Amino acid sequence: MPAEHHNGVDDDGSERAIRSLGVIGAGTMGSGIAQVAAMAGIEVMLVDQADAWLDQGLKAIADDLDRSVQKERMTGQQRDTILSRITGSTAMADVGDCDLVIEAVNESFATKASVFGAVADVVLPDAIIVSNTSSISITALAGTIPNPGRVAGMHFFNPVQILKLVEVIRGIQTSDATLGRVHALAAAMGKTAIDVTDSPGFVANRLLIPMINEAVFCLAEGVANAGAIDEVMKLGAAHPIGPLALADLIGLDICLDIMETLHSDFGDDKYRPAPLLRQMVSAGRLGRKSGSGFHEYGDQ
Ligand code: NAI
Repeated sequence: MPAEHHNGVDDDGSERAIRSLGVIGAGTMGSGIAQVAAMAGIEVMLVDQADAWLDQGLKAIADDLDRSVQKERMTGQQRDTILSRITGSTAMADVGDCDLVIEAVNESFATKASVFGAVADVVLPDAIIVSNTSSISITALAGTIPNPGRVAGMHFFNPVQILKLVEVIRGIQTSDATLGRVHALAAAMGKTAIDVTDSPGFVANRLLIPMINEAVFCLAEGVANAGAIDEVMKLGAAHPIGPLALADLIGLDICLDIMETLHSDFGDDKYRPAPLLRQMVSAGRLGRKSGSGFHEYGDQ
């Protein structure tokens, strides 16, 4: 018989490990989180709103693991074992047995709040519910469901398979037990967790996205072309990738969403989005994922 668990603490008083993870949203981040968790031996239920999105996410995971097999970083058998830990679904009820559910749906408060509500309806009352939001208030999201102490932010970075950092965000209501289990999950996934409090954009995006936004202003004003702006920051500031190439990697729609959150939540015009960023998003030039952004990516 498994031991009785209360508030995520085992009978011996240690934090209970996360054994089953629900991931909502099989896009860039959700598929990466699901893959890294499965590689860490965790059973994953990956949920998206429709088969087309789900299949795309599962294919991205399989393709990435195939590349690892080709490069002899893992065997075909290891790949198959990892894939067997990931179950895809379009039914939210399927995360009902998960110890922790992380949402990685689009960066919209309304969408995330509706996903939080749907998850809270199906999981156990002490299951942890986490958001991978880039900028939205964890405190506000937690306030939309009962038992908000079980909510925290886990801000993974893209590509999840490679970047080590997870910003762990503590909302006003987040309990110590929740934070302990979130840290345990980050460690199990091989990530370095850094605690930050709940503030618009947290730390990484409060610094990074206004820099990208300023690069877009420079481009629009003709200070330099996109390639030159990126080279300046690579060669002059030792950034591994220029700000406009980084915007293309993140997705220009996500960058705009984050700028809008910084602008509205701080109420400070220094965070106003560059009009050119808005125009690029309106034109559907979202960066790598659409094949075109500040740079061109051809067929991918
Ligand atoms: P994405 O657009 O690649 O994927 C979003 C997925 O969520 C799509 O597959 C969509 O079908 C699904 N979805 C939307 N509503 C849903 C619902 N109600 N139920 C189930 N699935 C639903 O977005 P991406 O880039 O993966 O971003 C997801 C979240 O992660 C956002 O909050 C974003 O701010 C955050 N994030 C993004 C990073 C990036 O570099 N793209 C980095 C760190 C965080």
